[in-house]
Amino acid sequence: MIDIDDVVSQTFLRQGHWYQELDSTNNRALEIAADCEIETPVLLGATHQTAGRGRGSNRWWSSNGTLKFSVLLDMKDLGIAQSDWPRFSLGTALSVAETLESYVPARRVGVKWPNDVWIGQRKVCGILIEQSDRVSDRLIVGIGLNINTDFAEAPEEIRSVATSLFAESGQQFDQQAVLIQFLRRWEQTMMAQRSGNWSLPALWSRLCVLIGRQVIVSSTAEQLFGQCLGIANDGALLVDTGAIRRCYAGTVRLVATSDSA
Ligand code: BTN
Repeated sequence: MIDIDDVVSQTFLRQGHWYQELDSTNNRALEIAADCEIETPVLLGATHQTAGRGRGSNRWWSSNGTLKFSVLLDMKDLGIAQSDWPRFSLGTALSVAETLESYVPARRVGVKWPNDVWIGQRKVCGILIEQSDRVSDRLIVGIGLNINTDFAEAPEEIRSVATSLFAESGQQFDQQAVLIQFLRRWEQTMMAQRSGNWSLPALWSRLCVLIGRQVIVSSTAEQLFGQCLGIANDGALLVDTGAIRRCYAGTVRLVATSDSA
């Protein structure tokens, strides 16, 4: 169990609530987002989720070893304009990746656009960002971070693509310490973004798992195939399909090549 008062006292959060069980921390955060009186940022976390949600219509499988929480943010209060929200989303993934690097220094931690975090070729963290339909300046950032997750009980389709700090290192980690370290790093990232001289492409290129690789980007509008060149300063994924295309939404798949197997 997380000592949430301790987490609040050491970070930029104004409030926090930790539950033994919730359907989804994002659902709970969406409910309270409608309350105009609520002080933000507020964190809602749960030891167990009965209906964790992933991007699109995906479910999010997790065990108690997975750190699961959502942070309700008022983006106006934070000084991050709506046009800058895509970069904020990428900055969140970067902050997770930078945090995890210090726990598994021997492994390659990376980011997969837009905001998955990988260790090697496997996903260690998923991020689901949703906008409140009641108070439009409010975002809910839901994070599922596989820290001590043991995938023995996981469905096969999860076991083949997911990993955890424990699976990578054989060590158990203190979930609360990881949470505090991430929140501090994330605050610094937001401050840098707000300052206006934040070079996201430079930071991203060090950790990007797609650069130089052949990718397929699928969106509702189209499917693109080409070589990933990295990201632009506005957060768009750059894909060389013969012409350089900028992608703002979609799901990316790496195309397996003989040297990537
Ligand atoms: C994804 O990669 O598809 C996003 C996964 C996000 C999972 C987290 S766990 C905490 C929060 N509550 C949810 O129901 N989902 C997010």
